[in-house]
Amino acid sequence: MTGRLFPVSATELPLVAGGDGVYLHATDGTRYLDGSSGAVAANLGHGDLRIAEVLAEQARTVAFAHRTHFRSRPAVELAELVGEHAPGGLCRSIFSSSGSEANELALRLALAYSAARGHAGRVDFVSRTLSYHGSTLGALSLTGQARRRAGVEPLLHGFPRLHAGDPFDPSIEELRAELAGLDPQRVAAVVTEPVGGASSGALVPPPRYYEVLRSWCDEHDVLWIADEVMCGFGRTGRWFATEYWNAVPDLLVFGKGISGGYGPLAGVVATEPVTEAVLAERGYVSFGHTYTNTPLTAAVGVAVIREMERRGLVAHADEMGRKLEAGLRSLAERHRIVWQCRGLGLLRALELGDVQAGQPWPSKLQLTQRLLAAARDVGLLLYPAVQGARNGAGDGVLVAPPLIISPAELAELIEKLDMALSRVDREHSADRPGR
Ligand SMILES: Cc1ncc(COP(=O)(O)O)c(C=O)c1O
Repeated sequence: MTGRLFPVSATELPLVAGGDGVYLHATDGTRYLDGSSGAVAANLGHGDLRIAEVLAEQARTVAFAHRTHFRSRPAVELAELVGEHAPGGLCRSIFSSSGSEANELALRLALAYSAARGHAGRVDFVSRTLSYHGSTLGALSLTGQARRRAGVEPLLHGFPRLHAGDPFDPSIEELRAELAGLDPQRVAAVVTEPVGGASSGALVPPPRYYEVLRSWCDEHDVLWIADEVMCGFGRTGRWFATEYWNAVPDLLVFGKGISGGYGPLAGVVATEPVTEAVLAERGYVSFGHTYTNTPLTAAVGVAVIREMERRGLVAHADEMGRKLEAGLRSLAERHRIVWQCRGLGLLRALELGDVQAGQPWPSKLQLTQRLLAAARDVGLLLYPAVQGARNGAGDGVLVAPPLIISPAELAELIEKLDMALSRVDREHSADRPGR
């Protein structure tokens, strides 16, 4: 019998035929501007022949050599490069194939650290209400986003959460009070996305948020794990988003942008004190997966980072991010369905709602899906965000184009988004409550 793929959406999706820069095209000839870098991964855009060449060359040389049999040059070089670009003191890496796996590795490292420090009873991981950390069971246990946990809840741990008052508008005082209420003797680590992704719609915590978190962690010998799977590797206009705060995590998890979508690659980097504690007993870590530190994708990571350096893409993302922000703000002024815009660099979101009432619309209006469809119809791809995170309500989209985007392409993105918003506004104005 002929096998078939499980469908991943209610409507049949087009067949992708190719990609070139910020564009993807389908077999029916339709061209799409990739306004979200897929799931905020394709930082170098599509069809980059330099990266394709490195991939082919590494496959010819050696694609796979298991980490328990060999070290490989690409993995060693990639660890060096991660150490060069990561915030101060983060220097020891393990690589994996997905952000979810990388978060699992971070959990294992944190447990190993706690045990080495004589705190074997510290087995809780504190995370935020508005969060997504991945789909494996440990990473999903960290995840606060209810719709991602649905259907798996009985298998997940009920870890404590930080709300800091209104999770969409966190308060430093509430954060302090919540931290003071935790029992540090139970906590191995606090895990946060420095800048939020799809669950919150690019939420940027206020100044001093991470400084406060850092000092609580220091006081109690609890680790801070920064999940930069989405916001790391140049996405926010800095190599890593934590650079916007004056605080360095103990473990930093990365993914997506490190390979720009040219291979399944992610990982975790640790500070020297964490490394020393973890290695104290045996001198090595035994856990990992089949593709941990594998040469093929490590070579891609090296090539992507070198390309980012060569083209100055982090500074470019910062500059384009300001233009994107200006464009989105002008759309917010003209379209009444745009309630808020948020984000940093090229990680931005539009949240939809009733501007006058200052609130989201009930999500049964399904504005996210409507906007995604309207955008697709004018040749623009976006990524869903917020989706019910405001007590079941809340709609939004992530706007996060490849870091290589040019000013002209950015103007095209804003024009297409303008058309899509106009259509959603026009077609569905009758549905709006109170009108
Ligand atoms: C912040 C964050 N962490 C972890 C993950 C999981 O990464 P992956 O889908 O590669 O497993 C994601 C994916 O979107 C993410 O945004």
